[in-house]
Amino acid sequence: MEFRRIGDIEVSAIGLGGMPMSIEGRPDEDRSVRTIHAALDAGVTLIDTADAYHLYADEVGHNESLIARALASYGGDTSGVLVATKGGHLRPGDGSWTQDSSPEYLKAACEASLKRLGVEAIGLYQHHRPDPRVPYADSIGAIRDLLDAGKIRMAGISNADPDQIQQAQEILGGRLVSVQNQFSPAFRSSEPELALCDKLGIAFLPWSPLGGIAQAGELGSRFAPFGRVAEAHGVSPQRVCLAWMLAKSPVVLPIPGASRPESIRDSVAAVDLHLTAEELALLD
Ligand SMILES: NC(=O)c1ccc[n+]([C@@H]2O[C@H](COP(=O)([O-])OP(=O)(O)OC[C@H]3O[C@@H](n4cnc5c(N)ncnc54)[C@H](OP(=O)(O)O)[C@@H]3O)[C@@H](O)[C@H]2O)c1
Repeated sequence: MEFRRIGDIEVSAIGLGGMPMSIEGRPDEDRSVRTIHAALDAGVTLIDTADAYHLYADEVGHNESLIARALASYGGDTSGVLVATKGGHLRPGDGSWTQDSSPEYLKAACEASLKRLGVEAIGLYQHHRPDPRVPYADSIGAIRDLLDAGKIRMAGISNADPDQIQQAQEILGGRLVSVQNQFSPAFRSSEPELALCDKLGIAFLPWSPLGGIAQAGELGSRFAPFGRVAEAHGVSPQRVCLAWMLAKSPVVLPIPGASRPESIRDSVAAVDLHLTAEELALLD
């Protein structure tokens, strides 16, 4: 396994995205637990989740609770695993995603996540998405208060633009450790945020790195160069995609989602796939 830095700790360069195990199309608990255990067996020490990764209105935190149970039932040592959760999104149960990033809501959401994860302090707490009804400074101010109170060990943001990254870094007094934005062959518009994170030495976690749950399987046919490079190496286009991202900057830590053990095993192997400068240019 290759390790990369988030704040003051090193975690696996490839993380596990937990969302597909808790939203529409999710598998049963047994397959989910096997998927999380397969990730741990493969050396994954970064798991991304959110309180909003659930399907029905009455099961907020479904994914956090699932991850806590899977870590508890794992036979090996999980002390080095960083569970990165988020607050600020809600799912009323009709398939939609709503928002509340008021300081009061974020602080209450963090308390609930702490209980579900069964920890004294959350390893990495990420503000999920800027809420147009709440000044960004107020939302990030709540994250700063959570840091100061020791409720969270590290603070991150998500779905932020370069100005918001700078603003968050200022409000947090230089303690912003990660930015999680959408980034994939299909969605390239977070290049400026990636470049800024590289400059500032802040971890950049691409979300939906394979194009999202619905399109991840078609990556090689939708983006022909990824298919061709994959064929040349005898590996999956998804693995090529993750290797391409890892090569962009040492601050990049992709978090591919999985609901099957074989998916995360294949994705983790991207750390051992080294692409030539020519191949990287072609994929770019
Ligand atoms: N911050 C945000 O606003 C935000 C938004 C969306 C997602 N996220 C986070 O980002 C994570 C990743 O995004 P995502 O799950 O939406 O999309 P994704 O990672 O682009 O795609 C996930 C799908 O890819 C498939 N897959 C994974 N590895 C594969 C491989 N090596 N070969 C073939 N198929 C593979 C999985 O299939 P199987 O299910 O069959 O295993 C899974 O359903 C989420 O899980 C979540 O933690 C964050």
